[in-house]
Amino acid sequence: MRVYIIAKHPAFGRTEKEHSNRQDWQNIRAMMPYIWDYRGRVLFALVCLMISKLAMVGVPVILKYIVDGLDAKPGQIIVLPLALLAAYGFLRFINSGFNELRDAIFARVRFHAMSSLAVSVLSHLHDLSLRYHLERNTGAISRDLERGTQSISSILNYLVFNIVPTAAEFLLVATILFSQYDSLFAGIIFFTVIFYIGFTLMITEWRMHYRHQMNALDSSANGRAMDSLMNYETVKYFNNDEHEIARYRNTMGQWEEAAVKSQNTMSLLNFGQAVIIAIGVTGIMILAAQGVVDDELTLGDLVLINTMMLQLFLPLNFLGVIYRSLKYALADMDKVIKLLRRPVEITDHADANALEISQASIEFRNVGFHYNEDRQILEDVSFTLKDGEKLAIVGPSGAGKSTIARLLFRFYDISQGQILISDQDIAGVTQQSLREAIGIVPQDTVLFNDSILYNIQYARPEASFEDVREVARLADIDRFIEALPQGYDTIVGERGLKLSGGEKQRVAIARVLLKNPAILVFDEATSSLDSQSEKNILGALTRISHNKTTLVIAHRLSTVIDADHIIVLEQGQVRERGDHESLIEVEGLYAQLWRMQQKKAQQSE
Ligand SMILES: Nc1ncnc2c1ncn2[C@@H]1O[C@H](COP(=O)(O)OP(=O)(O)OP(=O)(O)O)[C@@H](O)[C@H]1O
Ligand SMILES: [Mg+2]
Repeated sequence: MRVYIIAKHPAFGRTEKEHSNRQDWQNIRAMMPYIWDYRGRVLFALVCLMISKLAMVGVPVILKYIVDGLDAKPGQIIVLPLALLAAYGFLRFINSGFNELRDAIFARVRFHAMSSLAVSVLSHLHDLSLRYHLERNTGAISRDLERGTQSISSILNYLVFNIVPTAAEFLLVATILFSQYDSLFAGIIFFTVIFYIGFTLMITEWRMHYRHQMNALDSSANGRAMDSLMNYETVKYFNNDEHEIARYRNTMGQWEEAAVKSQNTMSLLNFGQAVIIAIGVTGIMILAAQGVVDDELTLGDLVLINTMMLQLFLPLNFLGVIYRSLKYALADMDKVIKLLRRPVEITDHADANALEISQASIEFRNVGFHYNEDRQILEDVSFTLKDGEKLAIVGPSGAGKSTIARLLFRFYDISQGQILISDQDIAGVTQQSLREAIGIVPQDTVLFNDSILYNIQYARPEASFEDVREVARLADIDRFIEALPQGYDTIVGERGLKLSGGEKQRVAIARVLLKNPAILVFDEATSSLDSQSEKNILGALTRISHNKTTLVIAHRLSTVIDADHIIVLEQGQVRERGDHESLIEVEGLYAQLWRMQQKKAQQSE
């Protein structure tokens, strides 16, 4: 797979209103790498185009001679101009034949550009940080992505099939008229075309913002619709269907307004264009007819001029539509290019090596971290964990426990201090090797909408079915799976929603077991389980984390008494540290929590 890197440019971050022609050119340039793979084909397609256009312009010329040949002076004998008629047919055939050839050759270029752009975008989306992905709106981004890949195809189409051919034809026609006839003809055509293009561009620019508005509203409506559907259950719990629909209706209503304005201004544009062309054509026809009356031109000349003009203005009529579509496609493209230019937050250092794990030790050295500048999350957090030890992090909700796990995976870079694994700073090793070394059972498990087998095997796709069953057994979920009508092939639903919280958690445990990494992280790994299942799994977890460096985050202190170290985190700071016994002795926060939980446990017995 090739990923095209596009340098950041100064126009990045402009508002859509400032979206300028210069930027369009930059976007077109940015597309070039995607067609570069097939530059030979592009060249060939352009040659076909030229041949077909030459043939097209040749048609009226031949027609002139045919008409002149048939338009005999009195007393002259008319002979059937067979050769000319044959040439006429032949040129017409060449014209459409090479057109088709051009399309066929260009198809590969177009679709290759689409597919490689789509691949680069997805790959870039994966490179972007978790921060970006938490902020984005999936519905809106998928819409932009779809329109973006569609637009590269449209842009190429318009350029290669419409704009370049029309320009080429215009030049040819102007040359013929200019060299053969009164320069007034070429002059009128020239000014009509210039006027036409100028008018089209001006009006189109003016009405562009309706289209931008439409796009923005369309994306936002789509985002809202997706969001409300993804939160289907929540919407029903709170009886907020009407509220969701009203929000959607509101956005769609605004979209409707913008769309109607866009359509109406288009009619205005078409009307103006028709007026300009009518004036130009009438002028030329008057001039040509006068030439025939004055005997300066033959009837054939009149036919030639008329045919050429029709040939020229016909695509020009399209040019208005094409220009508009091109601008729209460029506006869509702009979004994708901006996305591709979005800098990647977490990158491997140029000289990053793979993480070498001989001793899977972990050290947090005075770590400070914030998600956003205005709110510090972790402050001066330090702890060390030797190879094979188990560290428990406990503390109230929102203290920053899960954040520590995320930092270990380097989803974010820290603002102070260092995180070391096996004495290597994790910021200096490749992300790939770092993430290979750690396995996590996250606090909220999300599964792929695929089979249970797929979800467990995700940790190690080459694992055998026997391996999968073995880890399912260890995670105490094998009996559940085997009792399902479809067994391991059961589809778990979007995000795994067809499984219960505890079942999802056990699937997550199974797949970490399958990954079998040097370092294990359990973030409330058993929080959704009943006491019996928890006991079963804790046994399994203890067995597999035996001799493995393990980080356990837990609310229920009873699950972490056996940890080598326990740190109590509160508001991002380490308040207490030690093992269970010593922490009970100091009579601090931990001892307090412990007593409270003990009391609760006794009451429920
Ligand atoms: N992506 C984010 N952007 C901004 N703030 C965040 C983000 N993720 C978490 N936070 C904040 O950071 C703080 C620590 O969050 P964290 O998830 O680490 O808490 P926790 O200790 O795991 O809590 P819990 O026991 O409830 O899981 C919270 O106050 C939370 O609001
Ligand atoms: Mg948490």
